[in-house]
Amino acid sequence: MQVAMIQDRIVPVEELELVYLDRGIYFGDGVYEVVRSYDGKIFALQEHLQRFASSLAAIEIIGVDIGQIRQRVQKAFDAAGIANAKIYFHITRGSAPRDHICDANLEPNFFLTVTELLDNTEEKTNGIAVSTYPDWRWKRCDIKSLNLLANVLACLDAARKGCAEAILVDEACLITEGSHSAFFAIFGCRTNCSHSDTFNHQRAGFHRHQSIGAALQTAPLTANILPSITRKFAIKAAQNVGLEVLEKSLTPQQAGSADELFIAVTTKDIVPVVRFDDKIIGDGKPGKYCKMLIQEFRRFTI
Ligand code: PDD
Repeated sequence: MQVAMIQDRIVPVEELELVYLDRGIYFGDGVYEVVRSYDGKIFALQEHLQRFASSLAAIEIIGVDIGQIRQRVQKAFDAAGIANAKIYFHITRGSAPRDHICDANLEPNFFLTVTELLDNTEEKTNGIAVSTYPDWRWKRCDIKSLNLLANVLACLDAARKGCAEAILVDEACLITEGSHSAFFAIFGCRTNCSHSDTFNHQRAGFHRHQSIGAALQTAPLTANILPSITRKFAIKAAQNVGLEVLEKSLTPQQAGSADELFIAVTTKDIVPVVRFDDKIIGDGKPGKYCKMLIQEFRRFTI
């Protein structure tokens, strides 16, 4: 008899529930999304669904009906009745006995949860501490894959150091992003006017407002980082308040000397960073631009 064991219970292999054969568990063979709602309204669902479709295509899970995913998200959200909700969903390649290779016609598995989002006013008001960690991830971090072991190890390390997020640093000593967030620095004119870098003035679809002599800097969109949806709106907010935007990677030294830092992620939107490893940022409290960006971002969510 072929057997499996679940905790201390012996189960005949042929009686195993499909969930135990999910390729997501064995191989992280799937992709996911996290969407949120603000006061009963789902935010940026279209953008998340588009990224989900790109992730599916990148790992060659074909035939998923994105219109149907949209309906499922809406149906579950309505059923939950949670005003400020976190909606997590993933699709794995399907269930089969563990083997690297699998039938191309495997039926993908869909899973979704709607849970209450904790209020993060305290983090937004007081800021968070972050710590650096080596970026040990694979070379396709633009795919929102279920393989998150390197992210989890980084985040556990940060938590042990009393930090809320790990900031990943690659082999070239450049910051890529957070373990589960995008990462940004703001430099006032004091540091920036001496820069010889050219600023990206004309991102398609973004308004340019009068410059206020300060700049927002974040890593460019490459295969090394996730094309964060919150990043896109944070950049839009920055341009709306008159910050120049520079998409260029930072070193940890540069980040440590920034006037302001923040992370951006769907579940929290913009969260000021007031300590970077052992460096206190600004006066150790969220700076004026972070506060402005939080306000500006809120306007997108109404
Ligand atoms: N993480 N970078 C990484 C590595 C991430 O995992 C995330 C999001 C982001 C921010 O992306 P977005 O703005 O689209 O949420 C950047 C999610 C929320 C998570 O894994 O829980």
